[in-house]
Amino acid sequence: MTMSDFTRALAVDSLADRKPNRVVVGDTAIAVVSIDGEIFAIGDRCSHADVSLSEGDVDGCALECWLHGSAFDLRTGAPLTLPAIEPVPVFTTRVVDHDGTAFLEINPTPLDIAKGTSS
Ligand code: FES
Repeated sequence: MTMSDFTRALAVDSLADRKPNRVVVGDTAIAVVSIDGEIFAIGDRCSHADVSLSEGDVDGCALECWLHGSAFDLRTGAPLTLPAIEPVPVFTTRVVDHDGTAFLEINPTPLDIAKGTSS
């Protein structure tokens, strides 16, 4: 996958503020969160156990796992609280206008946080 592999995920209008959405791009499940108009996309699988992060709650700029409470930074995927110790992937998004409707597109290749690029 390259930076050109953006895939349409959903209409931006369908995103409620601070309410996680689960989207599947290819075979990758992604949790999408909009906070004050800024959109974040992280892997929709907790790194502690196989549960969906999009069923959790947004707290600040973090998404909290509903099962044991680990919070993941939406900017970096890093766990901020135990019991999770491994990060979750972060994905690049862009908003594209199509016939007057704004759509969110996601690159399903995880962002390499260290390099700031898709790996
Ligand atoms: S399953 Fe997410 S913190 Fe345990």
